[in-house]
Amino acid sequence: MPRISTSFDATSTAADVVAGVDLTGKRAIVTGGASGIGIETARALAGAGAEVTLAVRDEDAGRRTAQDIAGNVRVALLDLAERPSVDVFVDSWDGPLHILVDNAGVMASPLMRTAEGWEMQFATNHLGHFAVANGLRRALAAAGGARIVSVSSAAHMRSPVVFEDIHFLEREYQPWLAYGQSKTANILFAVEASRRWADDGITANALHPGGIRTNLQRYVDDAELERMRAATGGNAPQWKTPEQGAATSVLVATSPLLDGVGGRYFENCNEAELHQPGTRTGVMPYALDPEAAERLWTVSAETLDLKGA
Ligand SMILES: NC(=O)c1ccc[n+]([C@@H]2O[C@H](COP(=O)([O-])OP(=O)(O)OC[C@H]3O[C@@H](n4cnc5c(N)ncnc54)[C@H](OP(=O)(O)O)[C@@H]3O)[C@@H](O)[C@H]2O)c1
Repeated sequence: MPRISTSFDATSTAADVVAGVDLTGKRAIVTGGASGIGIETARALAGAGAEVTLAVRDEDAGRRTAQDIAGNVRVALLDLAERPSVDVFVDSWDGPLHILVDNAGVMASPLMRTAEGWEMQFATNHLGHFAVANGLRRALAAAGGARIVSVSSAAHMRSPVVFEDIHFLEREYQPWLAYGQSKTANILFAVEASRRWADDGITANALHPGGIRTNLQRYVDDAELERMRAATGGNAPQWKTPEQGAATSVLVATSPLLDGVGGRYFENCNEAELHQPGTRTGVMPYALDPEAAERLWTVSAETLDLKGA
């Protein structure tokens, strides 16, 4: 299928891309929906008529966000790094699910591990979302044409999934390598979920939202932030606003141009080209590699002891 290109670009907002889309009767989940671009993603989906569940680990923040957004917005507790929390979340979901936005994330944190000993960025950004999607598979299938939106990052360029030592047990921990690995995993997930779940009408696509000042940068100092800002903007570096940052997520979640399209990577509201050396854009071939995608799926299912995934 040809590359998807749209009339939108880096300056488009979530409201721009959802204009004219009617989501009445559709149900959506936005993980991490009480902060940063998650708020604006949820606002746009709710504004178009969807019932939106903010899946958050801070319920007070969730309630404040739900009040601020207005519309049909619910709040549910979800800590992606805690297996019992994921299990309760998926078990309490009832009925079809049309849009799952895997948006929550942690970036470049110091070395932290879950109770199981898994590296925290991989566990939160990838494994938690993998468990949620698998737990909600029947709900997604029941929707007919459900979409999963896997919020990745240009930082996927920093690392493939290093299958030999995903959890940094043998190699020295490096916060950015761990983040990059987890964000590559987000793309590989979209590739394999689209392949495995095609018969259920489920598609998954990944995206880079752009550079946006949010709580995500809590572990990054100002000098590093300035380098990131300059790197994302070329000669005229600019941060995106949260409304612009949410645009590609909302496009991938709702655009009719993506009907039946899965396993792809978007940035600035368009499908990305393959990365070219010397640029800061595009998708790395290793992130779209079907063999790596299948391997990651198997490893993730084994790690989580998910029967039938
Ligand atoms: N901002 C950027 O420049 C940028 C660039 C590339 C990609 N991204 C991606 O965009 C997504 C959203 O980022 P953002 O910038 O909006 O960041 P943000 O404001 O920090 O939002 C991230 C959300 O994830 C939640 N979260 C973290 N760990 C969690 C866990 N264990 N369980 C449940 N929720 C958890 C956070 O909850 P708490 O508030 O409770 O911590 C927060 O609500 C992330 O996946 C990020 O990797 C962002």
